[in-house]
Amino acid sequence: PYETYARLREQPGLFWQAHASDSGGMWMATRHAEVEQVLKDARLTKDARKVRDVPPDVLPNHMLATDPPDHTRLRGLVGQAFTPRTVERMEAPIRAIASTLLDRVASSGRLEFMDDFATPLPVVVIAQLLGVPPEDHDAFRAWSTDFVDGSDFANATPEHAARAQAAIPALAGFLSELVAKRRANPADDLISHLIAAEDEGGRLQPGELISNLVLLVIAGHETTVNLLGNGLLALLRHPEQLAFLRAHPDALPSAIEEMLRFDAPVQRALFRAALEDVEIGGQVVRRGEQVSAVIGAGNRDPLVFAQPDSFLVTRMPNRHLSFGRGIHFCLGAPLAKLEARVAFEELVRRFEHLELAAFERRPSTMFRGLRHLHVRTS
Ligand code: HEM
Repeated sequence: PYETYARLREQPGLFWQAHASDSGGMWMATRHAEVEQVLKDARLTKDARKVRDVPPDVLPNHMLATDPPDHTRLRGLVGQAFTPRTVERMEAPIRAIASTLLDRVASSGRLEFMDDFATPLPVVVIAQLLGVPPEDHDAFRAWSTDFVDGSDFANATPEHAARAQAAIPALAGFLSELVAKRRANPADDLISHLIAAEDEGGRLQPGELISNLVLLVIAGHETTVNLLGNGLLALLRHPEQLAFLRAHPDALPSAIEEMLRFDAPVQRALFRAALEDVEIGGQVVRRGEQVSAVIGAGNRDPLVFAQPDSFLVTRMPNRHLSFGRGIHFCLGAPLAKLEARVAFEELVRRFEHLELAAFERRPSTMFRGLRHLHVRTS
């Protein structure tokens, strides 16, 4: 998509993308400055109910689809349970999960990075963080994966789409039971901490707790899978950068920022619409119109990044937009970065030699990720 993005960035104003199916459409912001504005502008709402009639959401009031004051309240509560300390404590468990996954690969000598490693890692991590008992990890993983497969709009078969539809209520039902168990018997996990925060504040409406738990699962799964897959692909296609990283392990955090910039897992931010007429990049967006922040395009803007199409693991500064901006800035960013750091540390430690064999992309325009990534290892 990057040639298209480059063309769009050069056009003044915003780009109008008409829907194929009806007369509607949406504005697209592609330059860094305008992408940033769209992500931060309080005159744009995340709540579709404010601009049109929409059927009630299966997930009422998850924070990514609310504005202040609801958003502030929900994010505050979840943030109380999901702190930097909670994330730090995950390092050893993540390393153990990564190591187990790589043990299985090492004995077979073949690595299909997506199925063998990138897809299972984040979902087992979030399951442990929430406090899902080990015997339920497989079911939990299946719901999350069903959802991911079915949300791959362009390619989803009707069967996939139906499974994805069923996955959300199944996940919500499972989490409701887990919440009930933890209310009776608190443990040292995110759900119990969230319940404790709620008991102190008494501020969650029925359904809000479950909605926001489901959001954590689905917002953190495919995104992290794509970071791992895109990141490894970038390293394999730039062997000199991989060699540099082996010689300078301290550069890994900056390499991860560059992986995020170079191939953003979320190419376009989610729903936003104007609550009033708003001017963005010289274009007036009328009240009620939808506008999309094309993160993947902003990340390659030559006004902000020197050599924007080069993958440079030491790039500094790196003002990529891949976790969003403003009040909806990704709540899971520290966890995603920790997972990536541990994953690449373990991978490089385990294999002296990593070489690209073949890969296949997923066709979605919303997410950028791989279906397969075959790697020769030794
Ligand atoms: C929000 C990207 C991992 C939880 C966002 C947004 C982006 C994003 C772009 C803002 C969307 C918008 O403003 O429209 C990513 C990427 C990830 C990642 C690229 C991995 C590389 C995670 C993980 C979790 C998570 C691991 C949790 C376990 C959330 C939540 C929000 C969010 C809860 C909503 C925050 C709010 O509305 O205040 N993420 N994410 N994300 N992300 Fe992530």
